[in-house]
Amino acid sequence: MSGLTTTKAPFIEKAQKDGQRFIHQPYELYSLENHAAWTELYSRIQPRWARYATPKFLAGVAQLNLDPHKVPRIEDINKFLSPLTGFSAKPVSGYIPAYIFFDCLRNRDFPTTITIRDKSKLDYLPEPDMFHDVAGHVPMHTDKAFADTLVRFGEFALSAALLIQELKDPVVRVERAKSIIKALARFFWFTVEFGLMRSGNDIKVYGSGLLSSYGEIEHSINSPEVQRYPIQLEWAINQYFEIDHYQPLLFVVDSFEHLFSLVDELEVWLKAGKLNNVAPGQPEVSDLDVESFLSAKL
Ligand SMILES: [Fe+2]
Repeated sequence: MSGLTTTKAPFIEKAQKDGQRFIHQPYELYSLENHAAWTELYSRIQPRWARYATPKFLAGVAQLNLDPHKVPRIEDINKFLSPLTGFSAKPVSGYIPAYIFFDCLRNRDFPTTITIRDKSKLDYLPEPDMFHDVAGHVPMHTDKAFADTLVRFGEFALSAALLIQELKDPVVRVERAKSIIKALARFFWFTVEFGLMRSGNDIKVYGSGLLSSYGEIEHSINSPEVQRYPIQLEWAINQYFEIDHYQPLLFVVDSFEHLFSLVDELEVWLKAGKLNNVAPGQPEVSDLDVESFLSAKL
């Protein structure tokens, strides 16, 4: 039985085929192998979290009371999470177009995959899975300053959609949307997904892509091959990235208040036209992402 294994879950395939983006977590479908994959992923990363993660993340893990031996129930997580910051994990069937994703953040919902990677592929998976979303992202949502920053990302997306929809020329509208979404995706990537934070004399990890990777969390802090720079907005929004290998370049913020202020600044730049022609390159912005901004109901 395939249970709820990433890319092999009939329940998810059916939801996608039926166009259901937001779903429930059919907990009874998890197989023994799914629970075993969670247990192994969760237990082996503990010492690396203790060593490399920001204390704010560790506090979040403690507050969520995750069971190390079973795939977590989303409703249990939300019972602990929602009273702290108003955030909830919201189960989804897979990819969520960009505007809808950020609009969820604005409403303090975090789109969360419910499948878990195959036990034979614990180290690398191109798709997000529940270990990435729940163990990597959700503990950060217990921190008020970080949670408010995610909401600020959502507000930025709303401002961007308003600005794009005002444009009269349909060709300009699409080109503008692509550039602004690329800027936003890069900034999100280099912060929420792969960010580092100054912590006293050390540098710690707060980015969820790093927090959910047994290998890369250590590499991001210790490897001499990684360039780590104080974040600069103009650099982050014009810097391409690739998802299929460890990141060679990471940016450091001072605090979540600092990150919040950078999202504010991003919105000032949006309105000043400074996101209209960002450097070409990854990530590609899909037609669905563009369409989601053009058709956002405001
Ligand atoms: Fe993520």
